[in-house]
Formats: sequence, C-alpha cells, structure tokens
Amino acid sequence: MPTPATRNPISRRRLVATSAAAWLAAQLPNRLRGADAKAPVNAGQLAKLGGPRAVRSRPGAWLRWDVREQKQVAEAIAQASLFYWLGKGVNKQTALFIERFRVHCPREHVMTCSSGTAAVHIAVAAAGVGPGDEVITSPVTDFGTVTGILFQQAIPVFADLGAATYNLDPAAVERAITPRTKAIIAVHLAGTPCDLDALRAIADKHRLFLIEDCAQAWGARHRGRPVGTVGHAACFSLMNSKHIGTGDGGVVASSDARLGPALQKFADKGFDRGTGGFTWDQTGVLATNYRMSELQAAFGAAQLDRLEAIAAKRAVLGRALIEEISGLPSVQPPALPAEDRGTFWFFYFRLRLERLKCSRAEFVEALRAEGATASAGYIPVPVYGTKVFREHAFFAGRWPIKEAGLTAMDYSRVRCPEAEAILATGVQCPLNESMDEAHVREIGAAVRKVAKHFST
Ligand SMILES: Cc1ncc(COP(=O)(O)O)c(C=O)c1O
Repeated sequence: MPTPATRNPISRRRLVATSAAAWLAAQLPNRLRGADAKAPVNAGQLAKLGGPRAVRSRPGAWLRWDVREQKQVAEAIAQASLFYWLGKGVNKQTALFIERFRVHCPREHVMTCSSGTAAVHIAVAAAGVGPGDEVITSPVTDFGTVTGILFQQAIPVFADLGAATYNLDPAAVERAITPRTKAIIAVHLAGTPCDLDALRAIADKHRLFLIEDCAQAWGARHRGRPVGTVGHAACFSLMNSKHIGTGDGGVVASSDARLGPALQKFADKGFDRGTGGFTWDQTGVLATNYRMSELQAAFGAAQLDRLEAIAAKRAVLGRALIEEISGLPSVQPPALPAEDRGTFWFFYFRLRLERLKCSRAEFVEALRAEGATASAGYIPVPVYGTKVFREHAFFAGRWPIKEAGLTAMDYSRVRCPEAEAILATGVQCPLNESMDEAHVREIGAAVRKVAKHFST
C-alpha cells in the first residue's frame, strides 16, 4: 500500500528535505545551528541525550613560545660555548635564567638541571639522605618525586593526604615519623600549595629537611610566600607540559647553609666549580651528571618572563571554576584557602559517588558530551601500588637495602585510604592560560548540569 508520501511526490520531497535538514542540524555544534538554536529546548537536558551543550566556546590558540625564545636562543648560539658554567665569563644564559628565577623564588643557591626528577634527587642527596634513611612523601605524585630517594638507597614512606587539598596531611606526616626519618618531600599537587607552615613546623620540631616538590606549582603562593621559599630546598620541573618549560629541564634551589652549597656538586658529577672543588680527585662524593646546557637555559630564561602572567591567569580561572562547582551535594571542589594562590597545573575535583546515580565513567562521558574536556582520575594507582613498588623490584629486580636488613618496609601492605579515594573519585579538567573566564564558567555549568541530572 502506498504511503501518503509516495502518493504525493511533492510532500515526499518536502519530507526528505526536512529530515535531511534536521539530520544536518543535529550534526552541527549548537552555536552553529542558527535559527534552530532558538527552538524551544530543555536547557537542563544532557547533551548526551539530545539537549544543548553547556560548553559552547572554545579556548584560544595556546601559544607557548615565540620570537622571544628564538631571540634568546640565538644569543646562546652566538656564544663560543654552550656549557653552563660561567667560569670564562662568556656564557650568559644560565646566569640570566638564575637571575629571573630568583624573581619568582628568591633563594641564595640555584642550580639548573636536566629535569624535575634530577632536581629532587639533587636535593635529597645534598640533604645527606643515604642508605636506610626514610623520606616521607605523598603517594599521589609523579614517579620523579621518589626516584631520587630510591637512588640514594633510602626509603620512601607514604603519608596520607587531605581529602580536598590532595596534598600531605600534616597530622599523617607526623604519625609517619620514626627515628630514621631524615626528610619530608611536600608535593604541591596540581598547583595547590601544601600547608607549608604546618609542615615546616613539623620538620623543625623533628630536625628534618623539608624539600618542596614544586614541579606542578610554578608561581603558586602559600600565605603570600612563593612555593619553594618555605622549605629547605625547592625543586621545579621544566618538562614540556609544565606551566613553563624547556622541553625537559629542572631547577633546584636552597638558602639553607648545609644543603645549598652542595646542590652544584650533586648536579655536576661532584664538582664544585665555584669554590675550586673542581679538581678531578677532590670531589669527595659520587654524583651523576644532571647539568643543563646554555641552549635550554636561554629558552628557559625567556619562559620565565612569561611566568607571572601564566600563573596569575590560571589562578583566576581556577578560582572561577571552584566558585562555579561549589555547593553541589554530589561534587567536592578542591580546597584552596583564600590567602593562597593556586596555579592549577590541572583542575581536579571529586565526586561524592554515594550521592550520584551514575559511575564516575558515566559522569565523565556526560561531561565530555557537554563539550568539556575531562578525564577520570590522575594516576591509576598510588605510587606504592605500582608493580615496581609492590614487588620491591627497584634495582635489577632487587632492593639491596631490604636484603641487607636496613628496612622492613613492605609496599604491598601500605594503605593510604584518602589518597586511594582521591584517585577513585576524582575528575580532571585541563586548565590553561589560553582559556578565558567565560569558557571556564561554561565548564562549571556543564559540571552542574551533569551533577544535577545524576544526583540522587
Ligand atoms: C610532582 C612532580 N614531581 C616531579 C616530577 C618530575 O619532573 P620531570 O618530568 O621534569 O622529571 C613531575 C613531573 O611531572 C611532577 O609532576
């Protein structure tokens, strides 16, 4: 039997045209739909279910370097040597880098190096950490925080974290201290400063070194003081994805009279070039080569000129996003005291899954459909949960200090419940200086919309 459409070829043509237009419109982002966008829609309907997207704007181009870096690197290339040491007075890039670094982190001793991992290793070694010593740190961090501890034949001891800061909980740190503890490494995760006053007080009370891992926190401030200036040593990464970078690179700095003068030695095969300890047979220590060349220092010096603008912008964007997602029963925004400046290497918030009718994966999927860039969690498991830790397989499958009876540590039994919950319930949204506040507020609206839809 003929359908009404086939009986009337004109209306059939119309029908086909109308359906094609509707199909085409559905493929377009909402902002391009023109008149269709004005059609009555349920704004609260998830984009995943056919509603309008909450995130309609797009970040601008993310230009991370330009002629300024080119010019500075060209200056380095015009030099006769690209070696970092200034002994002959011809190499200016490392000096310029250090001068600009001190604007942000005023420390007496500053040593450029090859990575953030190297920076932490240098600081740990300069603090005199050795076989059997314990170093308390965060289980939610990059491997670079712990590599240097292990290479000094010392023992990373993991303390639990604050539920909304994702940083070391000072009370948990104090509980983890033993007579073997030598240092604390405070990681300012995602650009949120740790409670440095509390950690420094604990370090002083127990005569420990406080080393700040500032790899993710360029430009952050704790109660007005730049990160890196409260502890005994500060370590920064210049790896490509950081706030500023040199492709790869790092900086370690200190104003401590015991630790500071040793930084160069532990970055430069034991040589202390400044005080004549340059002599081949007088280094006195075993240290590796973590030096940074003048080419990278030149690039980094130009990047340092951009830092304040990058940090200030991220601080504003992060605060705006916190504001947007605060007060929702099923969402826990990150905690950042009003007097601190977080610089949001990324934005991380937690879900209260008991208040939601969906899994984290479904929440993230819905958020993405709204046009927000989002992913579940940060690292898949805490550092102690990785294979190499669980199996104590650090050096060719072995852990010499355990075999020698210098530690009874068993990482397969370590548990930090809050750290594990942070990783199991967290959602990460990238945030960077190419975004404007309106865009970030749209991401906030997307979180609110998805949370409202799935709330119990
Ligand atoms: C907290 C933290 N510490 C250390 C590092 C190591 O830095 P790098 O990759 O430059 O070695 C990173 C790198 O992501 C990091 O995020």
